[in-house]
Amino acid sequence: MKITPYPLWPVMDYWFYEAFRLGVTPSAEVALTIWLARQTQGPIMEIGVHRGLVLRILAEHNPDRPCFGVDSGKPGALEQSAEALGEEEIGQLAAHLHNVTLLKVDSTTLKLDGRFGFIRIDGDHRFEGVKADSEFAFSHILPGGLISWHDYAESGFEWMGVKRYLDTIEGVELVAGTSTAIFWQPLDKSPAL
Ligand SMILES: C[S@@+](CC[C@H](N)C(=O)[O-])C[C@H]1O[C@@H](n2cnc3c(N)ncnc32)[C@H](O)[C@@H]1O
Repeated sequence: MKITPYPLWPVMDYWFYEAFRLGVTPSAEVALTIWLARQTQGPIMEIGVHRGLVLRILAEHNPDRPCFGVDSGKPGALEQSAEALGEEEIGQLAAHLHNVTLLKVDSTTLKLDGRFGFIRIDGDHRFEGVKADSEFAFSHILPGGLISWHDYAESGFEWMGVKRYLDTIEGVELVAGTSTAIFWQPLDKSPAL
């Protein structure tokens, strides 16, 4: 029997290529994020959307759920991959979707009454930025909802504040083999709004 070597390059799907090219979330973490979001119900929010790659995928996989993306277009000083964006570029990959709302503001100024089933934090990676976004998330997550943070890492990312901040919070756990950390809001606990 003749065995044909499996050609690997076509497997590099569009999203992987986009992530690689833009220097953003790799496809395995995107797949994990989709799965995590699907374990929850209610509106979805991503803080730090950049061009909207992950927000778009989340919105496409959850067409019946409102999806909010927050981005100021101004990366923090410690973010190596994200360049500053013009107004039009913020979330542009997701902007056309019917269930997407883009909030082009500094996340620390966010004032919303709503609650969310899934909140992904990937904005200002400095300690104070992560803290502010996390405090927003903890106070707006629905019972049974999930908060996820990108760029939590054991080593190599100490320059960011994600791990330093999250290690002070009880109940946050790292998804093994990834740089995603998660927190489940207990079903019997409502956010203090
Ligand atoms: C790493 S990028 C996000 C990548 C995106 N989540 C993805 O996977 O495609 C971080 C984004 O956070 C945004 N950001 C940084 N500080 C912010 C703040 N205080 N408020 C809102 N957005 C902020 C930056 O403009 C940048 O677009």
